[in-house]
Amino acid sequence: MSQQVNLGMIGGGTVGSGVYHALSRNRALMESRLGIRLNWVGVAVKEIDEPRPYPIPRSLLTTDWTQVVNDPQVNIVIELVGGTTIAKTMVLAALKLGKPVITANKALLSAHGEELFAAAQKYGANLYYEASVCGGIPIIKALREGFVGNRITHLYGIVNGTCNYILSRMQHEGAEFEDVLREAQRLGYAEADPSLDIDGHDARHKIGILASLAHGFWVRPEDIYVEGIRQVTQADIRFAAQLGYTIKLLGIIKTVPGRGKAGEGGARIQVAVHPTLVPHRHVLASVNDVFNAVFVRGDVVGDTLFYGRGAGKDATASAVLSDIADAALEIKHGTRHRIPPFVPHANGSSVVPMDHTMSRYYLRLSVVDRPGVLARISSILGQANIGIMSVIQPEAHEGQTVPLILMIHDAPNAAMRKALAKIGRLTVVKAPPVMFRVETFD
Ligand code: NDP
Ligand code: HSE
Repeated sequence: MSQQVNLGMIGGGTVGSGVYHALSRNRALMESRLGIRLNWVGVAVKEIDEPRPYPIPRSLLTTDWTQVVNDPQVNIVIELVGGTTIAKTMVLAALKLGKPVITANKALLSAHGEELFAAAQKYGANLYYEASVCGGIPIIKALREGFVGNRITHLYGIVNGTCNYILSRMQHEGAEFEDVLREAQRLGYAEADPSLDIDGHDARHKIGILASLAHGFWVRPEDIYVEGIRQVTQADIRFAAQLGYTIKLLGIIKTVPGRGKAGEGGARIQVAVHPTLVPHRHVLASVNDVFNAVFVRGDVVGDTLFYGRGAGKDATASAVLSDIADAALEIKHGTRHRIPPFVPHANGSSVVPMDHTMSRYYLRLSVVDRPGVLARISSILGQANIGIMSVIQPEAHEGQTVPLILMIHDAPNAAMRKALAKIGRLTVVKAPPVMFRVETFD
């Protein structure tokens, strides 16, 4: 084992200290598999004395990240700081020096991925990002390498561990949203700003990265439709269960019939993140706690499923170790060309606006129990050519406010949005309507 590869890391928090710990534990195994010695040169942090989930030797620590990036001994730079400002400067600085960079920073890739991958190409260095999506699940490698011979027609992912943890504990234990969120923060699952998780933005970052990789063009975050889980209540979880569904925050990427931009061909894809009613019988319905899962349908392979821990120090460290292996092999063999981490290749492909796509819906209304109420609601839906599939209304005394649950047939999102606005204005409707989409996985 003659070759040694030197590692420099920026960030020694949940994920960074997890990486240090995991490499200490399995260094000999990795080194014998790769035929390369892996050596730490330095770890930059904000505060040397900050408590860390796993210890990092003081002799490696510095508060000057430029020392790590610029050290000529450092062959690979690992960015585990987070955020989209200083992290971007750090990643660009390393790429400019031609050093391969590894990041777990999905927010950074979502905001600046196109620019960062262009910089990587310009400076002849690869940018690796396995840990940015679904913690320990090797989904980036699967899409990049395993499915290189497939067109990805459908991808459904539970890609945010914090939201899945909250929804599962609400469902199985009747736990309160705020209590479970605090627990997710304590366990190191949530982002520094947990609204990134619960408002669906973290899932948007991840599903955008997967869509870009699967479809070969950079999907802009503003083109991804997003709803978080704040609106999901115990009542919705119970009614959905009664109807045979589990509510999950799903990231959805589907190819939509039709061609891309005029004259250029390319694909049209729907990319969205929203709470979704998943049939109990579907495998994604039984993915619980912090676990993530990604269901991928390729035109050659058919249906596949990936499952594992989606957040936390150890699972995420596993993904970073996989990128360290790829980057180290790249150095050992003097080439950065296996299948590159991301190459734009689909001119003319585009994201279809959510309004132009079709869904099934679950609708919960708070209505006054009075003759004619259902008729007025179904008349608004009927005028928009939207059909009701089934109705649940718990028994109540006339004049009481009761929940009215409607399951709605496939309908265009724009028509449903407009009909819902009209329904919300009816005097017999006592609270803003709650609407979630239903997925059939056809
Ligand atoms: P933490 O907040 O636990 O760690 C951030 C680290 O960055 C800390 O060690 C901090 O130093 C260091 N840091 C902050 N600013 C600077 C700076 N200017 N110079 C040097 N170091 C700095 O975050 P996580 O480990 O949870 O997340 C890191 C990245 O991994 C994020 O992009 C996150 O989105 C991503 N990620 C996180 C997952 C998780 O489960 N937590 C899973 C997948 C991805 P100090 O320790 O001194 O404060
Ligand atoms: N906050 C993220 C989650 C961390 O809960 O999934 C993993 O990316």
